[in-house]
Amino acid sequence: MHTVNTPTPASRQYWLTGASSGIGRELALQLAARGHIVYLSARSADALQTLAAEAPGQLIPLPCDVSDDAQMARVFEQLPPEQRPQWLDGVIAGAGVCEYVDLPVLETATCRRVAEVNYFGVVNACAAALPLLQRAAQAPGRGRPFIAGLCSMSVYTAFPRAEAYGAAKAAMAYFLDSLRCDIGRQVDVCLVYPGFVATPMTAPNDFPMPFCLSADEAARRVLAGLEKARRPRAFAFPWQLHGILKLAAALPGLWYGVIMPRMRRTPTLDSKEASR
Ligand SMILES: NC(=O)c1ccc[n+]([C@@H]2O[C@H](COP(=O)([O-])OP(=O)(O)OC[C@H]3O[C@@H](n4cnc5c(N)ncnc54)[C@H](OP(=O)(O)O)[C@@H]3O)[C@@H](O)[C@H]2O)c1
Repeated sequence: MHTVNTPTPASRQYWLTGASSGIGRELALQLAARGHIVYLSARSADALQTLAAEAPGQLIPLPCDVSDDAQMARVFEQLPPEQRPQWLDGVIAGAGVCEYVDLPVLETATCRRVAEVNYFGVVNACAAALPLLQRAAQAPGRGRPFIAGLCSMSVYTAFPRAEAYGAAKAAMAYFLDSLRCDIGRQVDVCLVYPGFVATPMTAPNDFPMPFCLSADEAARRVLAGLEKARRPRAFAFPWQLHGILKLAAALPGLWYGVIMPRMRRTPTLDSKEASR
């Protein structure tokens, strides 16, 4: 059970997408425990209400579908004017879905569905938040606001069945890195690369998830990175999986030629099994 601290002048205002479950839910509770105000977004309004009841007045439900451009453009207008944020000190774009591709079935619709949330959902959140982040950037004494995107180590090197998930995460990573170039020093743009985390998203996974963390621990590490005096452009955890996958990315021959064939579960299109 997280303790809740009453907001103080030092309190910050954050917007969190993907707040109804997993890492996002733990982030919301840990931010409330620090006395901050958090606008909570996800599609499940009931789950957000239940979460908000843990810290009334501090956790503020803001249900939305991040893939709905029009809804996101007016997302704060669903709140009564007195409750709408006049600025934001940070946005954590954590809303995400995971669907795997299993050959021989390759459906563009799967890739589009995942990209709508994991890539365009991040674009929508940034577009909606930027004016409010810039207001915080101009306010004296508030520190530099930030945009943080929950990416994935699956972008380090390609994995089987990750055509939809990995590609959308790679797109959001490029988008945020490019946005950083244009935003300049007003707003920090951070990319977070978690390894495996035990959440409803990974619960269906029937393959090994080495160095898997709890959602509570993952949230703690996300905040530890974002609360650093000099916020990193990017950070990853756990270091073990980060190290292994960075090494794999540096050895593509070994990765694609030796390791991948052992990880693959569906017959390749050129294999005998496929021709049966
Ligand atoms: N778990 C891992 O191993 C892991 C590793 C690396 C990165 N990540 C990333 O971390 C983030 C959180 O993942 P998680 O593991 O905590 O997953 P999760 O428990 O499934 O949570 C996903 C969150 O995204 C929300 N969401 C999904 N589609 C949405 C939409 N269209 N509009 C608004 N909200 C939407 C969900 O709420 P509703 O369904 O209520 O909308 C939920 O709150 C994701 O971006 C994921 O890709 C996870």
